[in-house]
This record gives sequence, C-alpha cells and structure tokens, in this order.
Amino acid sequence: MDKFIINGGKKLHGRVNISGAKNAAVAIIPATILAEGPCILENVPNINDVTIDLQILQEMGADVKLLDKSTIRIDTKHIRDTVVPYEMARRMRASYYFLGTLLTKFNHAKVSMPGGCDLGDRPIDQHLKCFKSLGADYSIEHGLVEINADKLIGTQIYFDKVTVGATINAMFASVKADGLTILENAAKEPHIVDLANFLNSLGADIMGAGTDVIKIRGVRKLGGTNYTIIPDQIEAGTFMVAAAATKGDVTVNGVIPKHLEPITSKLRKVGVTIEEHDDSVRVIGAERYERTNLKTMPHPGFPTDMQPQFAALLTLAKGTSILTEGIFDNRFRYVDELRRMGADISVDGKVAVIEGVERLTGAPVKVADLRAGAALIIAGLSADGITAIEEIQHIERGYEDMDVKLRGLGADIVKRRYPSDIKVAL
Ligand code: UD1
Repeated sequence: MDKFIINGGKKLHGRVNISGAKNAAVAIIPATILAEGPCILENVPNINDVTIDLQILQEMGADVKLLDKSTIRIDTKHIRDTVVPYEMARRMRASYYFLGTLLTKFNHAKVSMPGGCDLGDRPIDQHLKCFKSLGADYSIEHGLVEINADKLIGTQIYFDKVTVGATINAMFASVKADGLTILENAAKEPHIVDLANFLNSLGADIMGAGTDVIKIRGVRKLGGTNYTIIPDQIEAGTFMVAAAATKGDVTVNGVIPKHLEPITSKLRKVGVTIEEHDDSVRVIGAERYERTNLKTMPHPGFPTDMQPQFAALLTLAKGTSILTEGIFDNRFRYVDELRRMGADISVDGKVAVIEGVERLTGAPVKVADLRAGAALIIAGLSADGITAIEEIQHIERGYEDMDVKLRGLGADIVKRRYPSDIKVAL
C-alpha cells in the first residue's frame, strides 16, 4: 500500500512540465482500432488509465510498442476480438469508448458497464441513445453492454445533457456511417477537439468540434497517422492551484493557455497573479486570498475536475466561499478529509459552504477519487506539519509522476510503501 507523505509549508517555486491530456489519451487510444494503418502517438501521459487502455488493446490482439517514455506505436490490424476483457474494463470509466470504436469496426461490441471514479450516478443512456439512433441495437445483461448493428446510418442526434463521453462515442459510431450525422448540444471540451483532429488526421470528415454542433460525414476508410496529444489542462490547473496555495512562484510549462482560461480567471479573481506566455503560465501566489463563489459547468465553464483542488485553496481564503457542483451528484468526498486538517466546510447536496480558516494542519487522510486526491495533496502542501495520504492509486490513475514533479518544485513529498496494518507514526 503506497502513501504520499508530505511535510507541508514549503513554497513551490521553479518550472514544471505538463504531460499529455488524460481525457484525450483515453479516447484516442481506443480510436486507433478504427485506423487501418499504424498510429504513432506522442505526448502520451504515463498514467495508470493509459496502461489499462493499452493492456486492453494488447489483450484483443493489437501490437503496442513504447518508442520512448511518451511515444507509443499502436497497430490494431490483428484485432479480431470484439469483447473487452471484463476485469480491465471495470477498472476505468473510459472503457466505454471501446463500445463506439468496436461497433464501427466490427458492427459488434461487448464491454462491461464502466467503472472509474465514483462521483455519484453516472448513467450511459445518452451513449446508448446515439448508438440506437445510428441504427444499432443494444442489451445490458450480467453487467455487460452488448451492441450490434447491420449497418450504421448517419442521423441527427440531440443530447438531452451535455456529455463528453456520449459526444465522443457518437463521433466514433458515426465516423464511417453512411451519410451525414449532426450532433447537437455536443460537449465542447478541448479533448473533444483533440479527438476530432486525431480522427481527421486518419481521414475522417468531422467539422465543428469545439462548438455545440458537430457534423460528421461518414468516410469509407481511415488510415494511420502520427499525432501529438494536447497538454492536460487539469494537471496544469492542479499545479497552478498548488503554486497559489503554497504562496509560491511556479511556471507551468507546455500548456495551451486558452484551455486554462476558466481556471486562470478564477485564480485571478481571488488574488493570484498570473502571467500568460505562448505555451506557459507563471503563477505568483499571495499571502492570503479573497473568498469567491464558483459553479462547475461544461466547458468553457469552470471544470468539475478542478472543483476539489479549488476547494482546498478556498479553505484558506478570507471569508465564506460557496461552491456549487453543476455536473456530478457526489463530488464532495474529500470534504471529511479536509475537515480532519482543520478546514471548515459544510455540504448540503450539491453545494459546499467554505468558511476560510487561518491555517490547515497535517493529518492522516484517505483519497476517495482522482481529483479528491489532488485536493488532499494541495491541502497537505499548504498545511503545517505532516500529511499522510492513503489510497494514492486513485491519484496515479490520472497524474504522471505527481510526487516527482512536486519535488522538482521544492515540495517535501515522498512516496512510501507500508504494509496495510502498520500506521505511519505522526
Ligand atoms: C468526462 C471526463 C471527466 C469529467 C467529465 C465532465 C473523461 C474520460 N472523463 O467524464 O474527467 O469530469 O467528463 O467534464 O473524459 N450523463 C448522463 N447520461 C449519459 C452520460 C452522462 O446523464 O449517458 C451525465 C453524467 O452523469 C454527468 C454529466 O452527464 O452528470 C456529464 O457527464 P460526462 O460529460 O459524460 O462525463 P464523462 O464523459 O463520464
């Protein structure tokens, strides 16, 4: 059982390089099933969700070669299997992307109901609605989703909710369908645009990604490609908040500042100084921050994946901040842990009220999900004394070398392995 042990109170300073975007990578890797030639992917983050995706492809017969730490060659021409191994698919939410890609490639797919972070009810009704609208039938039995189609035919699909996953699966299922598919009320996240660019580089005909109407004209053939994945705006945002929370001065390198705007503007609002450059942002912290209200929304609103980290920052702000979660039902699972560190937070449904305190103190805490883990790291870095963070496998699903990168910025953080029955001496 690994833990992060943080001796808090050190100001972060220096430069940190951001890895490729997790949410783009976990869509693009299954998308290689659609390519009729090899794909070389650059800037692939070295995280556990990517490892699982690559293992799934290998189990199904793909040839996967690591060319260097962040470059991977994937050739899927020998895949014949249309069933994703159950235990692997259960371990990550984004395994549902195999539904759309296998359906297009083989007219059949069988994948377990997705796992991943427990953020409350996470139905896949909009995914299934898309497959059905395009001409497929589905059934859910024994925990498996099975989809079949004789033929996929272009159509018009209106999403009842803005959903990243269903927008991406609709793109997969329509990219080789007969005729034109129009997706309305589509998600606009940067990784939707990145996926569209990747598919277009294979020969797809997708227009409008990044707006709420995406038009996909089905093509007969998709080739191979060389493609570089965009930087991870949530990893970048996490380091920006960590820099602010520790009153540090950090340059976050290798980013697309436009993708960070919702985060940058909120940080500026509470009093953080941010300089934007072509592919980096410099974050200069202050002694204490102002209170604010915040509501998470689909892009370009404030991202739900940054809500826990921002809450950690606001625990130390002056006054009362109100934080409303607009996407998921259960995204406050870090609150009890922050309270153990001295934070004053109350939660009522989807609203958290944070009364700023003067200081946090280190404590043993447990991670419930990926971004909750990031929030606990930020709290630990800014707290007095030692914070021991358990269940860090959630963090390693989505952050590459988090402890190494933080040490590079002067943080006192180490990863330790403990037998589960021995408690850390604090
Ligand atoms: C993706 C991201 C995740 C991010 C989330 C919201 C990936 C791999 N994960 O998750 O990091 O937090 O977007 O930005 O990219 N919904 C339905 N029916 C559906 C699908 C979704 O009701 O069929 C609801 C969800 O329960 C949620 C909302 O729509 O309330 C948004 O979900 P969605 O955008 O689909 O999230 P994910 O794709 O799972």
